[in-house]
Amino acid sequence: MSEQCVIITDENSGNTLELPVISGTEGEPTLSIKALPSTLGYFTYDPGFTATASCTSKITYIDGGKGILRYRGYPIEQLAEKSTFLEVAYLLLSGELPTSSELADFQDDITHHTMVHEKLNTFISGFHYDAHPMAMMAGVVGSLSAFYHDKMDMSDPEHRMLAAKRMIAKMPTIAAACYRHHMGWPAAYPKNSLNYTESFLDMMFSVPTEKYEVSTVAARVFDLLFILHADHEQNASTSTVRLVGSTGANPYASVAAGISALWGPAHGGANEAVLTMLHEIGDVSRVGKYIEKAKDKDDPFRLMGFGHRVYKNYDPRASIIRKAAYEVLEELGTTDPLMDLAMELERIALEDEYFITKKLYPNVDFYSGIIYKALGIPVSMFTVMFAIARTVGWVSQWLEQEETPTPIGRPRQVYAGATERDYVPLESR
Ligand code: CMC
Repeated sequence: MSEQCVIITDENSGNTLELPVISGTEGEPTLSIKALPSTLGYFTYDPGFTATASCTSKITYIDGGKGILRYRGYPIEQLAEKSTFLEVAYLLLSGELPTSSELADFQDDITHHTMVHEKLNTFISGFHYDAHPMAMMAGVVGSLSAFYHDKMDMSDPEHRMLAAKRMIAKMPTIAAACYRHHMGWPAAYPKNSLNYTESFLDMMFSVPTEKYEVSTVAARVFDLLFILHADHEQNASTSTVRLVGSTGANPYASVAAGISALWGPAHGGANEAVLTMLHEIGDVSRVGKYIEKAKDKDDPFRLMGFGHRVYKNYDPRASIIRKAAYEVLEELGTTDPLMDLAMELERIALEDEYFITKKLYPNVDFYSGIIYKALGIPVSMFTVMFAIARTVGWVSQWLEQEETPTPIGRPRQVYAGATERDYVPLESR
């Protein structure tokens, strides 16, 4: 933290105030405005939090102008190439890369928490078969506090860590159970002989009548995608988790709220929306028409998977996913016309003045759906894949908040409604 300050003067009263500048280890300097209401009598107005830092965090760093993303200081490119999802989960939770024995213990711990209470399957079976899986996920994860209320003293670090591990471990089991419910398949259980992503794929696709061998290509690429989606500092769903957590609500309820926030098409729901959009465009010859629609202020259509609040450069995750999409299609010996369509869309958009001046580039959701589709994941489950991975970020950020005294999150407003008026009796209206 620096000693710098910015002095502001209220031209109406002539009063001045020194606002301290908070500097982190990296990133833009930030003004602390806490004293503003009590000294000058002003609140600040920032809809969508485009200029507001809501917390101090040591977990993830993004430089949107340069296209940089780091978890606990480690560049995403290095983690994507060299690490595994559970190693990254350990890193995000604890702040450091694990030693071999720490990693082995952590993997063992996660593996032994993957089963869910049998009654959860009864709960899931109550949903209509064609319920959206994100709706089921939000409901089922929210209900976990009703199943696992044995260790819910959130002032106890051990209880907190147990809740965090339980969620990381159980999310793939719940996700697969939601899918199997939709398919009408019997429940599948996690297998401790398999690793995190292998066990997830096994629960997703194995059926009692056939021998199922988990594809190593699929397991590897899922591990990569989970690493890339694991955290992204104070995005909408993470901020939701922190806000709900700030009320003292339990972590299962907080993460269920995060799942709901993630579902929106401006956030994680964009991966599903990209596939729907590519299908709607249908052919390379129609790309130009859709680019024009995206640029038209009177048309609600937006190029899904394009643009980002923080990145004003190529999203580093998108570059890695684009390369992985090629490799997966090649390894599977298949092609997908949607890949050609996506490439053409990207090429034209990146040459277009509108996208150049507004600094709109492909984001993490632009190519991920092509991989999910190639590996047999149905479109309605795409955002669930995001949720499984982001659970690590949500619980890491929630743990960090719990470890720091944090006031309840409670924004103010600019009231623009009616001023005081007298009640009018019904018969006189
Ligand atoms: N297509 C066309 N125009 C766009 C797009 C787009 N995808 N994204 C932004 N713009 C325009 C927007 O209309 C605005 O124009 P103007 O300045 O003339 O009003 C300008 O670019 C700035 O956009 P904004 O909406 O003010 O920016 P934002 O930071 O509030 O929104 C965003 C960011 C991600 C919600 C937005 O870019 C968007 O809706 N993208 C499509 C949905 C999407 O891909 N979401 C996934 C985001 S990354 C993963 C994640 O967060 O989960």
